[in-house]
Amino acid sequence: MIKFVGRGQTLSSLHQKLQERERVAIFAIAGMGGVGKTELALQYSLYHQQRKTYAGGICWLQAGEVDIGTQIVNFARIQLDLQPPDDWDLEKQVSYCWRRWREGEVLIVLDDVRDYQDLESYLPPAESRFKLLITTRRQWLGESFEQLNLEVLSEAASLELLVSFVGEARIDREINEAKQLCGDLGYLPLGLELVGRYLKRKQDLSLAQTQCT
Ligand SMILES: Nc1ncnc2c1ncn2[C@@H]1O[C@H](COP(=O)(O)OP(=O)(O)OP(=O)(O)O)[C@@H](O)[C@H]1O
Ligand SMILES: [Mg+2]
Repeated sequence: MIKFVGRGQTLSSLHQKLQERERVAIFAIAGMGGVGKTELALQYSLYHQQRKTYAGGICWLQAGEVDIGTQIVNFARIQLDLQPPDDWDLEKQVSYCWRRWREGEVLIVLDDVRDYQDLESYLPPAESRFKLLITTRRQWLGESFEQLNLEVLSEAASLELLVSFVGEARIDREINEAKQLCGDLGYLPLGLELVGRYLKRKQDLSLAQTQCT
């Protein structure tokens, strides 16, 4: 398990946006990958699963993979015990599931959306209890989405992430090099994590030695 850092404020603002609006999209400037969009959605889901915030359940869907309609129907069959008739076409089966979905607020996460148009016909009805959270590299999904623009980590959070891999002593010993390294990696979680894991394996390597020449 990696330590989740630097997003306390963002988690609460995400929750607030989902209270106010039915649809929220997490994206990053310039469609940047590795900023932590999926991780944020995941941590949000885990946090609220533990607290049972969403009485109607949390349904995680992988937009890039198996057809989204099939994922929804499978979830409804397994988790909610729904039985949409097999001989109906998929779109009809999906809307059968939405209509009979468990009571209470529902969080639907659609991770890594590329072609939003392909998914639209499977989305939940416009009822305020269905909350839709999307992560995407795309910039604009339409008016109905509230946007959450995810930034790279702060320097402090970046250091905290490195510390979680290599320990406090090693970072403190070379704090200036560590700060430089975070900057060189653009404070990007993906890069920090890779370098953190590398440093963890190479116990004898000094941080200064990792710097590009
Ligand atoms: N706040 C964080 N604390 C610790 N690790 C993080 C954090 N955010 C992201 N990471 C880690 O960084 C890596 C990249 O994050 P993630 O996959 O969420 O990026 P992404 O924005 O969804 O990228 P993509 O556009 O490629 O889908 C992951 O391994 C993730 O665990
Ligand atoms: Mg992602």
